[in-house]
Amino acid sequence: STQRTLVLLKPDTVRRGLVGEVIGRFEAKGLSLVAMELRTIDAAKADEHYAEHVERDFYPPLRAFVTSGPLVAMVLEGDEAIEVVRALNGATDGRKAAPGTIRGDLSLSNRENLVHGSDSPESAEREIKIWFPGL
Ligand code: CMP
Repeated sequence: STQRTLVLLKPDTVRRGLVGEVIGRFEAKGLSLVAMELRTIDAAKADEHYAEHVERDFYPPLRAFVTSGPLVAMVLEGDEAIEVVRALNGATDGRKAAPGTIRGDLSLSNRENLVHGSDSPESAEREIKIWFPGL
């Protein structure tokens, strides 16, 4: 059934000039853009988005990274969009992600892995509220 999911093109995507490449993959798959904005976030916003990770060892450098420059936040819609986006993104670690996925083709990092996609319907609802409260 139709779902909405929150996707971030993290600052590495913007810095590397891969925004068009990555959005193109989502569009080519057939997903629809519902909302999209270029935004630079502060630490509080990062902590809100990554609430479940704030106590993890990897979080401080992740927070520094996601606040390091503009990112593109968007809501994508389509049939089974949450799972479809996660499949297109590939495994978290770009070094292990399968070729053909966004991370597998374009990232060599576990942190600077280009994209974020909501991991469940509950996460999607929470994250869409955080990023696009008007939707
Ligand atoms: P994301 O899908 O946005 O969810 C949490 C993010 O934390 C993940 O993508 C990576 O950017 C980052 N991350 C997860 N695990 C690690 C790790 N072990 N080391 C560094 N960064 C990580």
